[in-house]
Amino acid sequence: MSALLHVEGLSRSYMLGGHRIKALDEVGFTLGPGRIMGIVGESGSGKSTLARLVMALDRPDPGPHSGQVRLNGQDLFALPPRALRRARRDMQMVFQDPYGSLDPRQKVGRIVAEPLHLLPDRPTGRARREIVAQVLHAVGLGAEAMAQYPHAFSGGQRQRIAIARALITRPKLLVADEATSALDLTVQRQILQLIRSLRDRQGLGVLFISHDLAVVEDLCDEVAVMHNGRIVELGAMNEIIARPQSAYTRRLIAAQPSLRGLG
Ligand SMILES: Nc1ncnc2c1ncn2[C@@H]1O[C@H](COP(=O)(O)OP(=O)(O)OP(=O)(O)O)[C@@H](O)[C@H]1O
Ligand SMILES: [Mg+2]
Repeated sequence: MSALLHVEGLSRSYMLGGHRIKALDEVGFTLGPGRIMGIVGESGSGKSTLARLVMALDRPDPGPHSGQVRLNGQDLFALPPRALRRARRDMQMVFQDPYGSLDPRQKVGRIVAEPLHLLPDRPTGRARREIVAQVLHAVGLGAEAMAQYPHAFSGGQRQRIAIARALITRPKLLVADEATSALDLTVQRQILQLIRSLRDRQGLGVLFISHDLAVVEDLCDEVAVMHNGRIVELGAMNEIIARPQSAYTRRLIAAQPSLRGLG
C-alpha cells in the first residue's frame, strides 16, 4: 500500500498549570488513499491535537525525536513555506466547533470558496460561483445559502458549510473532527454517503474523528483507539469490534449501547 498519510512517533505536550501534559505520545499510523480511518477515544485523549498536527496547523514538540507527518511522502514539518502551501491543496479539515470555525463577517459563498486560493488556476466569477453551488448542493444546501451569513444557519447547517469548504479543492486527505456529530440522522446519513462516494470515486483518504463508535463502525475501514495521547489499538474496523485486544477498547465498546454484546 502506498501511503497517502504516514504519521510516525508524533509527540506534542502542553504545559497546564505547571504540569506537562502529553497530549500526543509517540503516535503513529499509515493511511492509504481511498481508506477511511476512524479515530476514537474519550474526551482529552488527543484526537483534535492529532488532527491539528496532521494538518500542520501545529507542530510537534521541539527536538529531533518528536515525530513526523508525511503526506504523499513529503515531510510536512520540513517543507519550506511555499511547498507547504502547495501541500495544503491536498489536505483539508472540518473543525470540531461549527460555531468558531466560520468567520461570522463573511458570507457563506466567500467562506466556502476560500480554499480555492490554494489552487494554481483558481476559478473566478461565474465559474467560481458554480463550483461553490455544486459543493453546497453536495452537502444538501441550496445555492441561496451563498448570500447569507453564518449566523443565519443552525449548528448542523454550519457543519455542512464547513464540509463544503473542505471539499471544494478536491483534497486527497480529509480530516473530519466530529464533523457529523451535530447533524440529525437524515443529514448525517447523507454526509456519510457523500464521504463514501468520494472515497470510492476519487480515492479520498479520510481521518474521521468521532465519539460515536456506531457511526465509526458503519463508515470506517480502519480504526485507531486513543487513550491518554497514545494509540492503544489500531487495525481493521470489523476485526477490532469483533476482537478488541485492549481493556480500554472493550470498555469503549461496552459503553456504546448499539454495539454492546458484539465485542
Ligand atoms: N492549546 C492547548 N493548551 C493546553 N492544553 C491543551 C491544548 N490543546 C489540547 N490540550 C490538552 O491536550 C489534551 C488533548 O486534547 P484534545 O483537544 O486533543 O483532546 P480530544 O481527544 O480532541 O478531546 P474531545 O473529545 O473533548 O474533543 C487535553 O488534556 C487538553 O487539555
Ligand atoms: Mg477534540
